[in-house]
Amino acid sequence: MPDVEISIRPSGPYLVRGPVSLHDSDGNAIDLGGKEVIALCRCGASTTKPFCDGTHSKIGFLAATQAAQDSG
Ligand code: FES
Repeated sequence: MPDVEISIRPSGPYLVRGPVSLHDSDGNAIDLGGKEVIALCRCGASTTKPFCDGTHSKIGFLAATQAAQDSG
């Protein structure tokens, strides 16, 4: 089993489990506060990017695959 696992929540964030380091676009390390699991925003609406803050639920975010299933 790999040390890092990334899973996609249905119409929600990417969950990253394992020992990772995260860097901003300038290469600066982002403090993960010792968390072993982080949720990265996939909807683009989080006010705490790159982390998910739960806003995806408030805006009714649907992942492309979920939206296609719901419309078909
Ligand atoms: S995925 Fe949760 S706020 Fe964007």
